[in-house]
Amino acid sequence: MNERETLKINERGHLSIGGADCVDLAKQFGTPLYVFDEAYIRNMMRIYRDTLAKKYKGKGLVLYASKAFSCKAIYRIADEENIGVDVVSGGELYTALQAGFPAEKIYMHGNNKLDYEIGEALDAGIGCIVADAYSEIDKIDAEAKKRGIVQNILLRINPGVEAHTHAFVQTATTDSKFGFSIADGTAEAVTAYALEKKNLHLQGYHCHIGSQIFEKQSFVIAVEKCMEFSANMKERFDFTVETLNLGGGYGVWYTDEDRKIPANGYAEYLEALIDEVHKKAEEKQLPLPYLLIEPGRSIVGEAGITLYTVGAIKDIPGVKKYLAVDGGMFDNPRYALYQSKYTPVLANRANQEPTEIVTIAGKCCESGDLIAVNVNLPKAETGDLLAILSTGAYNYSMAMNYNRNMIPPCVLVNEGVAEYIVRPQSYEDIVRNDIIPNRLQKKSK
Ligand code: LLP
Repeated sequence: MNERETLKINERGHLSIGGADCVDLAKQFGTPLYVFDEAYIRNMMRIYRDTLAKKYKGKGLVLYASKAFSCKAIYRIADEENIGVDVVSGGELYTALQAGFPAEKIYMHGNNKLDYEIGEALDAGIGCIVADAYSEIDKIDAEAKKRGIVQNILLRINPGVEAHTHAFVQTATTDSKFGFSIADGTAEAVTAYALEKKNLHLQGYHCHIGSQIFEKQSFVIAVEKCMEFSANMKERFDFTVETLNLGGGYGVWYTDEDRKIPANGYAEYLEALIDEVHKKAEEKQLPLPYLLIEPGRSIVGEAGITLYTVGAIKDIPGVKKYLAVDGGMFDNPRYALYQSKYTPVLANRANQEPTEIVTIAGKCCESGDLIAVNVNLPKAETGDLLAILSTGAYNYSMAMNYNRNMIPPCVLVNEGVAEYIVRPQSYEDIVRNDIIPNRLQKKSK
């Protein structure tokens, strides 16, 4: 089992998270349940924030990539920790604003921002929009003009780095829907285009090479390429890059096939990027840019677990033993999407040794609705409590109502005490937007 400070086996032999006993949590809130440890989240935010403040000679800001887990409470925590956020849709922007998050510390992403999303961003006065298309540049410029303002933008560039991760979460290879490529000259051309816009202030560049990446070298090469490109743009257009946003993507532990990075090990990733920025700035005689990073998964991923109750058990002799739980792909679609691996723990008997190999299945009408395939577990019975570890990122945020299942609630544990930060859905919520047109209304006979 992963020995993170947030997870322990307590004197009752139960799994605990952030000091809260999982069996008690399940009794209090029911299952399925997403549980987050607040201390872990804050600690990760501080590690990035303090490393940037201490090690980087220029100024900078950590942006929490809120697509990893978005709800009002997380924006409050990010605000209290004095970091910024990145949002990627009108919905995330709205949530952040509803939580009172300061607009100037919000950066907006997206490869196809909709007109109304751009309008909402400008109305809110958000700090910066990361443009990723010519049409967007035109639109932001026009909308800024209408409002009599000059909007800060960054351009998303693609440095062409192949990071070792699942193809679906690689974003900086030549064939990508994201970013203007440095290699084929489009990044240079779009720089010239954006610099001409009267109502835009081009602050610099953004790049994000992918997600769940462990090799420092991939990040360092991306920095090198962005700094070299910045130097070329200085030469070419006398354009000085004020801001460089290096994206997120640092990997987290899901199973023992992954490296276990202790919380402060992430400081080393950031230091490696900072060293490269310092080095290149000196070499190319560039002023140090305002530096942004956008970690998402590494802030919330290992801070969260999902609790399920074991239901039906199907043992197919010589084939597989399935344990079905009361959740599934509707609360965690990551196996269905990426064949992601997870570590289960029998939370009510966490001190027992594994004795069998099982597959954890969900309750959706779909054979691929699996959470963890061929994993070791002590012998589990119907009614046992199962925890899936490292589900804090891209689980709740990607949850859905498939089969009209209800998305589980989220609780936040603080010093052993848990409270809702996202309340449970109800059947009411499920039918809230349904309409029966008059002609289909049931006629009384
Ligand atoms: N910045 C940008 C522009 C991004 O696109 C992303 C992630 C991040 C920052 C944060 O990356 P992180 O630190 O969380 O790796 N649904 C997938 C992950 C998609 C990542 C999308 N972009 C999954 O479940 O693995």
